[in-house]
Amino acid sequence: MCAINTTKPDMLTVKIAILASGSGSNAENIIKYFSGRDDVEFPLIISNKADAYVHKRAEQLGIKSYTLSREEIKTPSLLIELLRKYDINLIVLAGYLLKIPAELINEYPGKIINIHPALLPKFGGKGMYGDFVHEAVINSGEKFSGITIHLVNENYDEGEHLFQAKCDIVTGETAQSLASKVHELEYLHFPAEVDRYIKKIYF
Ligand code: GRF
Repeated sequence: MCAINTTKPDMLTVKIAILASGSGSNAENIIKYFSGRDDVEFPLIISNKADAYVHKRAEQLGIKSYTLSREEIKTPSLLIELLRKYDINLIVLAGYLLKIPAELINEYPGKIINIHPALLPKFGGKGMYGDFVHEAVINSGEKFSGITIHLVNENYDEGEHLFQAKCDIVTGETAQSLASKVHELEYLHFPAEVDRYIKKIYF
């Protein structure tokens, strides 16, 4: 196992890259949370989808965004080059759907944070994303769902947990109604947990 490098970034500014595959509402929420702070910057957003709405949000926020193909992410020399070019210290996955390759985990050990829209270790793994997760949770008769913020290792959704929060599942719950409760939890906790983790490892 690789040790976490806690060398303080230059000028005590932590540079975060966000990876997102879809709408990017979490990405935007995180970036807005840190606005006005000089200890955290968001130099770029990367997506595996050229038509993801997150690019539009990036443009509105004045942040560069890039699209890399599935292949360019699987064999990540270009991705790593881009992250090095922008001196990225930490990676946040905000609704990012592809597997993170081992080379990237080795380049950023303990420095890749993901959010999963359910209470891991249940309802995680390949194919468990978006409404598939919420439907699986409801169909299994669970009384609660929630969010898990965790570090990323080489297996989908199996890295160390940093934080969990719960919400109730009520009679007649649908994937859409549950997704909206989960999003509320994400907006409330994800930026604060990223902040807490940065302070823990850097400051
Ligand atoms: C979130 O629910 C996140 O947990 C999941 O995908 C969703 C992304 O939403 N992995 P958004 O793109 O941030 O709006």
